[in-house]
Amino acid sequence: MAEVRLLFDERRIAGRVEALADAVAAGMGPDFTIVALLTGAFVFTADLARALGRRGARPRIEFVGIKSYGDATVSSGRPVLVGNLPPDLSGRRVLVVDDILDTGHALAFARDAVRAQGAGETRTCVLLDKRARREMPIEADFTGFTIEDGFVVGYGIDCAQDYRYLPYLGVLEDA
Ligand code: IMP
Ligand code: MG
Repeated sequence: MAEVRLLFDERRIAGRVEALADAVAAGMGPDFTIVALLTGAFVFTADLARALGRRGARPRIEFVGIKSYGDATVSSGRPVLVGNLPPDLSGRRVLVVDDILDTGHALAFARDAVRAQGAGETRTCVLLDKRARREMPIEADFTGFTIEDGFVVGYGIDCAQDYRYLPYLGVLEDA
């Protein structure tokens, strides 16, 4: 097993999620749909949704599968949707939520797919931004932490399906 170096502990993550919820609630209003990308965003989305609920927001919550990695630690650059987008996005404000914005292929693809479904104003929210690695012209509207390059695991984020259970965010030392 590779060593996991601590990046952000539970308290740090929780504090940042609360601050993000303030910004999202102010920017999106009470009525919108979260389209979260599986699988890495599931823990972040669960915490963000409850923080939004405490602020009076009432987002619908949908998940869609997106694959860009397989079992490798390098993105294929060709994301595909696994399953279907929710059918009732027409005219709705949508917040696309992902765990990590890296090259930008996955988030740009998902955002464009949501827009093509007829959604209204469509914004994006990511927990982590590896800005230095961007290949697509996309910035998230709401960002948790900007980080250096390195392979991140924990808080829902995997390496080959492992480590998702970690309550904190870490970096794989010899990935
Ligand atoms: P992008 O298309 O290169 O921006 O990749 C985004 C997707 O790749 C995210 O949704 C993550 O699922 C995955 N990803 C990117 N960096 C990491 C990482 O450090 N650890 C685990 N998954 C990652
Ligand atoms: Mg992902």
